[in-house]
Amino acid sequence: MTEDSLMKRRAEEPIIAVENLCKQVTTSEGTLTILTSVNFSIKPGETVAVTGASGSGKSTLLGLLAGLDVPTSGIIRLAGVSLAELDEDGRAYLRSQYVGFVFQSFQLLPSFTAQENVMLPLELIAAADPGLKARALLERVGLEHRLQHYPRQLSGGEQQRVALARAFVTLPKLLLADEPTGNLDSKTGRTIIELLFELNQEKNTTLVLVTHDEALASRCERMIRLEAGTIQEEV
Ligand SMILES: Nc1ncnc2c1ncn2[C@@H]1O[C@H](COP(=O)(O)OP(=O)(O)O)[C@@H](O)[C@H]1O
Ligand SMILES: [Mg+2]
Repeated sequence: MTEDSLMKRRAEEPIIAVENLCKQVTTSEGTLTILTSVNFSIKPGETVAVTGASGSGKSTLLGLLAGLDVPTSGIIRLAGVSLAELDEDGRAYLRSQYVGFVFQSFQLLPSFTAQENVMLPLELIAAADPGLKARALLERVGLEHRLQHYPRQLSGGEQQRVALARAFVTLPKLLLADEPTGNLDSKTGRTIIELLFELNQEKNTTLVLVTHDEALASRCERMIRLEAGTIQEEV
């Protein structure tokens, strides 16, 4: 095998792969199966929409991919590493290296300024110049005039732009976005979506986007549709 073909093969290795993923939780009414036998893999740089009715398991799936939650059975490989082989600290480390997450509810820390919120993931990995890098990303999302504002002093759209800057500042290979425009008016939502796709192009970030919006889903290269915890359709 030549060095070239080896490089190519490496480049095509999935950034994330799941096999027979199952998630059950115990409730007062017994065992609830949220995900059953989910299988897929995603290549670096791809854009993938995850769709499905409310309650179909989309957020649960994203939480598992990020290593924020553990599956009942099945395998998740992030950048070739099986998450099951890691303890919580190990998963947190891998996540800090590879994954950015954007939530519907922004999830900024209220007592930190916009710039401090964006600096946090850099500080976790002891990156150089966190202040400068955070500032550059906030400028990129059009918030250079809001660096020292606290989340409560920002509009919903501005808060989500801070959250996007925070998710991208470490240049993660994988960005997971769970209905990122769900709490925004449609115009503000469009701005956020454009930013997501622009950053995907600029930084070659793999994008996994949970959305109810069919038009938006069809902008992604692939679509995974969940129904009652299984993949109903993949296009
Ligand atoms: N920790 C939990 N305990 C009990 N039920 C849960 C838990 N997490 C999720 N569920 C249930 O699992 C189903 C899937 O949830 P979720 O992944 O949030 O769906 P989606 O994001 O597609 O709306 C829902 O019916 C939800 O109520
Ligand atoms: Mg959800």
